[in-house]
Amino acid sequence: MPAVLYEKRDRIAYITLNRPEALNAFNRDLHRELNECWLDFRDDDDVWVAIVSGAGDRAFSAGADVKEMGQLQADRVRRSFWETWFGHNLQSGLEVWKPTIAAIDGYCLGEGLTLSLSCDFRIASERASFGFPEVNLGIATIVGAARAPRVVGLGNALELLLVGDRVDARRAYEMGLLMRVVPAGEALAAAETLAQRLCRNGPLAVRCTKEVAVRSLQVPFGEAVRMGESLRRLVMASEDAREGPQAFREKREARFQGR
Ligand code: COA
Repeated sequence: MPAVLYEKRDRIAYITLNRPEALNAFNRDLHRELNECWLDFRDDDDVWVAIVSGAGDRAFSAGADVKEMGQLQADRVRRSFWETWFGHNLQSGLEVWKPTIAAIDGYCLGEGLTLSLSCDFRIASERASFGFPEVNLGIATIVGAARAPRVVGLGNALELLLVGDRVDARRAYEMGLLMRVVPAGEALAAAETLAQRLCRNGPLAVRCTKEVAVRSLQVPFGEAVRMGESLRRLVMASEDAREGPQAFREKREARFQGR
């Protein structure tokens, strides 16, 4: 069985972490196959939004595969220390400007939580729980520690990162981690509804706006606006930027093509 299932339907890519017997823990196969999915999603003009979820009814992902941990560390050590590894996967900064949604229906821990923090939206069910248990194992969280404060603020992030206890969906929502909490078993359907809504917007406008929002956290304000205004010119030159106003004038739904 593949460690990750990948399907594309009606402009939506469905990525399913598929190791339910190990609560969808990240082993080497899952890492590798997940990266392949993100690259395909990024490069395929026919898919506009991705949803990532976990197989089974117990977990989004329980984090790094603790049983394979020695091996994963060995792989990392074998690489040169000077090889920067930003962008190796979505968590560590692979640039994907199409919107991404994590549908969380169970445990969302460690690397699983980091993956969800790397998505634009997190929709969780009432049975979801969240945590960075790494410190309980004597292991440091790096990418999760770099990502969490940007989403939930430093205080909430440090609660998750340094205490290591799990919090429930209600507490995660209060922290600002979640867009929405839905009944058990309904996270994927709610994510699909959001994805369909996103697909009704001009996809180039969505990607441009996401890129400006994300990059503006990394560069000074003036540079962000200047870069964004340049990207705006590209979007304004697209067929979609003519179609949107025309559809408005004709009082009909726009038919965006991503061109
Ligand atoms: N890596 C590898 N296997 C894992 C795993 C992980 N991170 N998390 C769960 N599993 C496996 C369990 O070993 C078990 O398989 P087994 O029956 O073959 O031993 C199966 O998934 C079910 O997990 P189990 O522990 O029996 O379920 P539970 O409901 O009692 O507990 C958790 C669920 C998530 C609380 C518990 O599994 C756990 O603490 N997992 C480790 C989480 C973690 O530390 N992740 C971060 C690593 S950096």
